Amino acid sequence: MRVYANAKINLTLDITGVRTDGFHSLRSVMVPVSLCDEITLELMPSGGISFDCNKKELCTQDNLCVRAAKLFLETAKKEESVSIFLKKNIPYPAGLGGGSADAAAVLKGLNSLFDGALSESELFGLAAKLGSDVPLCLLNRPAVCEGRGEILTPIDIPYDFNVVIAIGKARLSTPEVYRQYDAASLPVRNDTDSFLCALKENDFVKTVRSFGNAFEPVTDIIAPETKLIRTRMLELGVLNSRLSGSGPSVYGVFENAEKANIAAEILQTEGYFAVSCVTKS
Ligand code: C5P
Repeated sequence: MRVYANAKINLTLDITGVRTDGFHSLRSVMVPVSLCDEITLELMPSGGISFDCNKKELCTQDNLCVRAAKLFLETAKKEESVSIFLKKNIPYPAGLGGGSADAAAVLKGLNSLFDGALSESELFGLAAKLGSDVPLCLLNRPAVCEGRGEILTPIDIPYDFNVVIAIGKARLSTPEVYRQYDAASLPVRNDTDSFLCALKENDFVKTVRSFGNAFEPVTDIIAPETKLIRTRMLELGVLNSRLSGSGPSVYGVFENAEKANIAAEILQTEGYFAVSCVTKS
């Protein structure tokens, strides 16, 4: 069985507090994009969980695909063996939820191979155990994400945004970005409400202008390349350009697919990973 794991971008990301478990509470509008990994799942007569990937450095038993498969088989009380092959197309680590999307796709795929052995709410429970973004990836449609990221309110977005996702050489660790954010004591942003208001008014330009990411004041300093890419996208005619998640990937929304394709090609010639894709509404 072949399953697809869509990357996601954060149109807004407001940090609303720190929880007693050390995680941060947030409000974020997340949307899946057409850029995706491909996962092949097969039930095998023996061998436990075997895992292979086109990126050899990701071939470890710690990979979220393996962890998702283990958790699924244990919870569904299945003894079968499973082979997993991951074709990684989503850059990593990037703030695009690639690992989370893979985990969600494995859960969904195995549940289908085992004829719906687990209920939807059980699957979402497993997803939340695997990571903050895994529930959204399992939902695979736009949503306001709250709590740690696992409390989802699906929303309808009447636009398919033409986006370019770009990433340079800078690497960022998610826990480190959260730590630096705490140290910076920044005022709490509320881009999510601005976004939801603009959406309600059916105002495309206002909606795109409301995109924001609370981490940017921090990542602009610890990974200046992310700011450089946003500035470069502005020169290339972007409507708005933001950091996705905790970075280091940056996305920009362009007026149409043609403009996005041209911008992606230019960024590629300048040495960045850049891909033109579209959000899934
Ligand atoms: O859940 P996930 O594996 O994505 O989290 C990675 C790290 O990011 C956590 O260990 C934590 O340091 C930070 N994090 C956080 N608050 C969130 C999500 C992630 O502090 N809501």
